Amino acid sequence: MRAHAAYTLAAPPGRRKLNQNESPFDFPTELKRQVLEQVAAQPWQRYPPFAPPELLARLAEHYGWVAEGVLVGNGSNELIQSTLSVTLGAGDRVVAPSPTFSLYRLLTAVLGGRYVPVPLGDGFVFDVDSLIEAAQREGARVIVLNSPNNPTGSALPEGAVERILSQTEALVVCDEAYQDFGGPSAIRLLSHSSRLVVLRTFSKAFGLAGLRFGLALAHPAVAREIAKGKLPYNVNLMTLAAARTALDHAPMLAARTREVIEVRDRFVARLGGVPGLTVYPTASNFVLIRSLGLPAKELFHRLLDDYGILVRDVSDSAQLSECLRISIGTGEDMDAVIDALGEILRKA
Ligand SMILES: Cc1ncc(COP(=O)(O)O)c(C=O)c1O
Repeated sequence: MRAHAAYTLAAPPGRRKLNQNESPFDFPTELKRQVLEQVAAQPWQRYPPFAPPELLARLAEHYGWVAEGVLVGNGSNELIQSTLSVTLGAGDRVVAPSPTFSLYRLLTAVLGGRYVPVPLGDGFVFDVDSLIEAAQREGARVIVLNSPNNPTGSALPEGAVERILSQTEALVVCDEAYQDFGGPSAIRLLSHSSRLVVLRTFSKAFGLAGLRFGLALAHPAVAREIAKGKLPYNVNLMTLAAARTALDHAPMLAARTREVIEVRDRFVARLGGVPGLTVYPTASNFVLIRSLGLPAKELFHRLLDDYGILVRDVSDSAQLSECLRISIGTGEDMDAVIDALGEILRKA
């Protein structure tokens, strides 16, 4: 374990914060007030309910699944952890595309499993054949699929999860943290397979990263098993109230998501005109770029120091050499990024 670092992020302050794939929009003040009023009316000396049935029913309706198959957690991170912790024994294989969200590798190591990374193909597209081949060869216990994938933005092709389920024996964990922004969802497959877990979060499109709310959708028998790996009372009264309020206002939040998608598409189109960059296609609320001339670390620092724009430097991994990941902010944020990149790279 000493070879692994804890999941952490050293982030200097930037005027435009585009490094954690958060929503550019704060939760509306009026809705914050409603959440605080709900919480103020409840007894704080009492533990929160384990799994409030009415909230599970509303989540089930929102995502199109059954309430007995919904689990809520302190962010979807908690549900990644509980899913892996009830599934993996010593030496069990976890197959995942590479690069992907680093927490899977870390938690697999913590739990004594063996992590088997399968490189994404050219342009970071999912290589479904290689994933299946690796899972069969390794006798994978778990396959983790993050679509759209962090940090590349690539989405699984239609039909991929069906193929992976039918050609492997593994539990397939579909992390859909960014699915609100694009790409297919595996939720409709839940009624066909009990080897599927779909994870969703309110941290991205719903703009509630600070309150920590995520959910897992699975066959009810599987959800009961995953619940054994969860710590009790990890979703507090404030978070429960915020999740209810967010669901009450889901259409307004969906309109914000559409706005982020429009800003993204305009930004990606304009990035194409900036010299010295490869831009990877994205279905998410972030874009991966590769700097072809100027070293990515220098580009990162110039953006921050000269323009107050904080993006994510992901260039330390060999597959992502010279790459930066830029979250989608407001239209104004992205205009500023285009101007800054243009100025820096034209002079480079
Ligand atoms: C792919 C992926 N899954 C899960 C998470 C964690 O989300 P949450 O805030 O719900 O714990 C993140 C956060 O960045 C992510 O990128």
